[in-house]
Amino acid sequence: MKLGIVGLGYVGLPLALAFAEAGNDVVGLDTDPAKLADLAAGRSYIEDVDDASLAALAPRLHPSADYTDLEDCAAVILCVPTPLSNSREPDLSYLREASAQVAAHLQPGQLVVLESTSYPGTTREELLPALAAYGGAVGVDFFLAFSPERIDPGRSDHSIRTTPKLVGGITPACTDRARALYEQICDTVEVVSSPETAELAKLLENIFRSVNIALVNEISQLCDRLGIDVWEVVDAAATKPFGFMRFDPGPGMGGHCLPVDPFYLAFKAREHDFYPEFVELAGKVNQAQPEFCVRRIERALNGARKPVNGSKILILGASYKPGIGDTRESPALRIMALLSELGAELSYHDPFVPELAALGLRSVDLDTALADTDLLAIVTAHPGVDHAAAVHAVPLAIDFRGVTRGLDADNVERL
Ligand SMILES: NC(=O)c1ccc[n+]([C@@H]2O[C@H](COP(=O)([O-])OP(=O)(O)OC[C@H]3O[C@@H](n4cnc5c(N)ncnc54)[C@H](O)[C@@H]3O)[C@@H](O)[C@H]2O)c1
Repeated sequence: MKLGIVGLGYVGLPLALAFAEAGNDVVGLDTDPAKLADLAAGRSYIEDVDDASLAALAPRLHPSADYTDLEDCAAVILCVPTPLSNSREPDLSYLREASAQVAAHLQPGQLVVLESTSYPGTTREELLPALAAYGGAVGVDFFLAFSPERIDPGRSDHSIRTTPKLVGGITPACTDRARALYEQICDTVEVVSSPETAELAKLLENIFRSVNIALVNEISQLCDRLGIDVWEVVDAAATKPFGFMRFDPGPGMGGHCLPVDPFYLAFKAREHDFYPEFVELAGKVNQAQPEFCVRRIERALNGARKPVNGSKILILGASYKPGIGDTRESPALRIMALLSELGAELSYHDPFVPELAALGLRSVDLDTALADTDLLAIVTAHPGVDHAAAVHAVPLAIDFRGVTRGLDADNVERL
């Protein structure tokens, strides 16, 4: 079959390749000319997709900026961004723009699926009216479902195929078509009774993580006061074979999902005079974690009789998680902004992030920078970086990821 994927980012590109690998022709639609140029040249811009697999599937992947290319597709899947506005409200502008275009080119019998994360009701309240205006009756003339993307960039123990896919259609016929579509690329498709259930299930998954990360981050702050090693505490608790799920403390929460999704839920809840305090508290605790990290840096430097002002601080790892270059909402950015306000002489090294344009910085050569730094802060622990050697090369280090545990070095402090 031929299908279209709208939005070829972290979610859309791997998805497009999964469908191509299953033998389909895939129109990959994106508004970013740089991404289309990369694809045309056989260059992947997503760490989880290598150039070789892109080349192997290139004959079945058709990158395009033209929505008319969707007109001979049996199904269209939307994977566009759903960020927050400056006032931390859901920004559905990308989704509205894409759905207006998909609607304008809707064909009889076409299936449209939304994968972008959003609050419960988005599929029914935003997409359905747009499509119905062009396409007649849902479940008869066209089909509409929500199926959340559960991809975890950088993860290698699960793939699109092995991660069960949730599907909730507007009508049973919509659900059936969406299920048949995803059965091509997923071993298990779990059907739920409505798009709203699937939308809220996705938010619950992410908020579950946000709340647990907040909990362990709060415990890390308490451990600091009590003089207890939080990593040893987490290790100890994790020996329980039931009733406990391990989450590690860190410098805060980043990415396009965990820091954003609670605000989507809170927005919808407010419309119903409901205030999800637990969810918002988790967001608040996680947002405060970079400030705690900066206080730890200040304290470490103070112990060496140095102020932050004028000290050379090297940040190791700028993206929000190991193995990928995504800096969206990365706590490293907040830590760097706060240190910069305090007058630090900042530099950073990240093998996945060549430049931080907003901060006017480029990733420096690690060995050169290590030779001339007052404090090294390990903020994101990328694979392939020798953290032990880095710590041994500097007078003072602070580790927010626990990767120096067991290291014989008395110049390193840990979260
Ligand atoms: N990144 C993740 O780990 C992840 C995981 C699960 C769910 N999600 C959700 O999936 C959605 C997409 O996230 P992402 O990380 O892939 O974002 P992304 O920014 O990496 O990719 C989105 C792509 O959509 C394109 N785009 C924007 N407007 C468009 C339009 N009108 N028409 C065509 N293309 C358009 C952009 O150019 C970009 O290439 C979001 O809702 C996100 O919350 C992301």
